[in-house]
Amino acid sequence: MNKFTDKIAVFLLCLLIPGLAWSETTPPKEKKVLVVYYSRTGHTQLVAEKLAKKFGADVERLIDQHKRTGVFGISSAGKDAVASNTTVIDALKHNPRDYDTILIGGPSWFGNVTPAVRTFIMQNDLSGKKIGLFGICHLTGVEHAIEEAADLISKGTLKKFPTMPLREGELAEDVLFKKIDVFYTEVMGETKKK
Ligand SMILES: Cc1cc2nc3c(=O)[nH]c(=O)nc-3n(C[C@H](O)[C@H](O)[C@H](O)COP(=O)(O)O)c2cc1C
Repeated sequence: MNKFTDKIAVFLLCLLIPGLAWSETTPPKEKKVLVVYYSRTGHTQLVAEKLAKKFGADVERLIDQHKRTGVFGISSAGKDAVASNTTVIDALKHNPRDYDTILIGGPSWFGNVTPAVRTFIMQNDLSGKKIGLFGICHLTGVEHAIEEAADLISKGTLKKFPTMPLREGELAEDVLFKKIDVFYTEVMGETKKK
């Protein structure tokens, strides 16, 4: 190597070594809040994405392996929700154990929790987690569905959780952001600095 290439090599090493040292010593970014949701037609998804932004959260979308589209799919959706049936959901991409706050949401089906959300709650140990519950319906039933989710999580101990029940008419950003601000304060016990 001539002197010029030597200089370039030294310069590149100087750039590289601090970079290597940094990557070794920097701990992995802590992810503390997880938003878990099921959405058939996208309304809960929209809310979940706004929540994730506000809370700085990771997002886990529950995928129901049971078909919930078409006449038969929708009728089985209603029947399963009313009968408190569980379903089969895809493997989770995030481990709820790694989070201390979990926000759980989904649509209300005839005033009931969806099978996917029920399945998630029943398959995961949520004790000791800070929980927030949100849900959506067209006109009526979401409060009942959220209550049902709370009962499932608290296993009959009637524990109260912060909740954010929504109707489709409240998805406009100005309304939704105000609701999310209130929910954030209830869940985190503080107001987020802007
Ligand atoms: C099987 C089934 C039952 C439903 N029952 C009700 C109901 O009783 N009351 C209501 O207001 N909306 C009801 N809905 C509408 C959904 O709750 C509503 O459209 C919600 O916004 C859908 O959320 P998503 O887009 O996240 O799936 C029902 C929908 C389905 C598929």
